[in-house]
Amino acid sequence: MRKTLFILLLVLSLALVACGGGSGSSDAGSTVGNAANGEKLFAQATIGLRSAPGCITCHSLEPGVVLTGPSQHDIGLRAAGRVPGLSAEEYLHQSIVDPNAYVVEGFDAGVMYMTYGAELSEQEINDLVAYLLTLTGK
Ligand code: HEC
Repeated sequence: MRKTLFILLLVLSLALVACGGGSGSSDAGSTVGNAANGEKLFAQATIGLRSAPGCITCHSLEPGVVLTGPSQHDIGLRAAGRVPGLSAEEYLHQSIVDPNAYVVEGFDAGVMYMTYGAELSEQEINDLVAYLLTLTGK
């Protein structure tokens, strides 16, 4: 009887440890997203809690095609050098949650939807970042 209880407790604590590790609500921005899910999110006409305009409505995936925002054809390559001190991943994350922190040359501040940070989950943002990193112009 005691043994069963012990095993039950052991299993429970292992489950807790496993869940705790996975739900990374860390603010370090280093959580790896799911690129396949990010691709789906990017292609949606609307996105997030308040049905904000989707990324694809302003960003083409074709080279050189400028809609309201720059083409994301090779954003996975461009992201790395954009802002000194920011990795590609950090830059992309910032571009989504705080678009005015760095405004791409030739575009105006305040045009990209401003409140994705509050309307998308951290997981969705990480998934989008993971997807954008795969866009290397090929
Ligand atoms: C209403 C139009 C609009 C929507 C919707 C939009 N963007 Fe943007 N985005 C822009 C504009 C304009 C810029 C360039 C100006 C700037 O840097 O803020 C930009 C810039 C960016 C950049 C930086 C590009 C670079 O070359 O450095 C990234 C990354 C980005 N957007 C990702 C996204 C993602 C992901 C979504 C969807 C969650 C999204 N955008 C939705 C208009 C939009």
